[in-house]
Amino acid sequence: MANATKPTTRPANPRFSSGPCAKRPGWTLDALSDAALGRSHRAKLGKNKLAQAIEDTREILQVPDDYRIGIVPASDTGAVEMAMWSLLGARPVDMVAWESFGSGWVTDAVKQLKLSDARVLEAGYGDIVDFADVNFDHDVVFTWNGTTSGVRVPNGDKIPADRQGLTICDATSAAFAQDLPWDKLDVVTFSWQKVMGGEAAHGMLILSPRAVERLTTYKPAWPLPKIFRLTSGGKLIEGIFKGETINTPSMLCVEDYLDALQWGKSVGGLEGLKARADANLAVIERFVEANNWIGFLAKTPDIRSNTSVCLQFTDPALTALPKESQEAFAKGVASLLEKEGVALDISAYRDAPPGLRIWTGATVETADLEALMPWLAYAYETQKASLAHAA
Ligand SMILES: Cc1ncc(COP(=O)(O)O)c(C=O)c1O
Repeated sequence: MANATKPTTRPANPRFSSGPCAKRPGWTLDALSDAALGRSHRAKLGKNKLAQAIEDTREILQVPDDYRIGIVPASDTGAVEMAMWSLLGARPVDMVAWESFGSGWVTDAVKQLKLSDARVLEAGYGDIVDFADVNFDHDVVFTWNGTTSGVRVPNGDKIPADRQGLTICDATSAAFAQDLPWDKLDVVTFSWQKVMGGEAAHGMLILSPRAVERLTTYKPAWPLPKIFRLTSGGKLIEGIFKGETINTPSMLCVEDYLDALQWGKSVGGLEGLKARADANLAVIERFVEANNWIGFLAKTPDIRSNTSVCLQFTDPALTALPKESQEAFAKGVASLLEKEGVALDISAYRDAPPGLRIWTGATVETADLEALMPWLAYAYETQKASLAHAA
């Protein structure tokens, strides 16, 4: 193979990590200059900022007025586990997973909570569980966008409006980039570090009235640490949903999230944010269409993520190799791109099939993805040439 030609244009921002994700365009540390640092988060200033974060979240995500929104500890994981530990056990649960994070919630339910009535429905990387097979009269725990497989739920049509169970949805890499059908979701969680390019550490926990009803009428058999407690004396702790956090938040992270939300509004709110992610995915779709050596891990376009895009090398000369060699090839491509300073952190997740994962959420500029595509071809050809040389 002839030596590949190095492209001349580099992405202005090479940050394509799937979390923490790129900061919003134009972000500098100056965005945090109004942070309520060195002040109590319970003072009026800090509390107002926390309440504003909740209000802006509601506005952009179009969360119904009767849903509660809380800021909770420990990022998305904290929010999901708080919901699972507080709500599960009242009825059987369907644990639905198709990649690594969903599998983590399965482990929580089966091995940690030891729920005897847990049914596990799983699909492999690239595939998704058909929601027609899920029993929505059970509680259901699932991930809207599988960050490690690039597979998302296409829509909520198969979730019945009159379900008896609660739907608990980890939406961390979907929120602000994909439609979330609120009437079909009882618990929604995410972290600021994903689509909005904020900081980790705090989680968002959104509860439907039915989820609140469960909280106030059901007491789990297991003990709940303070960090998970949403009720006191059988009543919801309403303050959590007004900015009175359970423990001390980082006001620097709060300021950064407020900045991200302002930016989100400036690009057209949810519609604008979704359009940015869609345009970013479209760049990669055009590239994949034009090159027969690369393909999406997601099996069909309707379940293809517009935030965590997972790609595989489909060249038969590579797919014939043992998995370790395919892994080494993909890692070689990613590290060449990193060395060139054109793409950081785009190796596939450690448990996922060999390949690349490129974040295309709203904070990523479409022009940067356009600039990256020729580099993908360059890195692939360069790696392939070195493979041929080694043979
Ligand atoms: C689908 C999903 N769930 C949970 C997590 C964990 O999020 P955090 O580290 O913010 O707790 C991630 C992180 O990438 C994720 O992608």
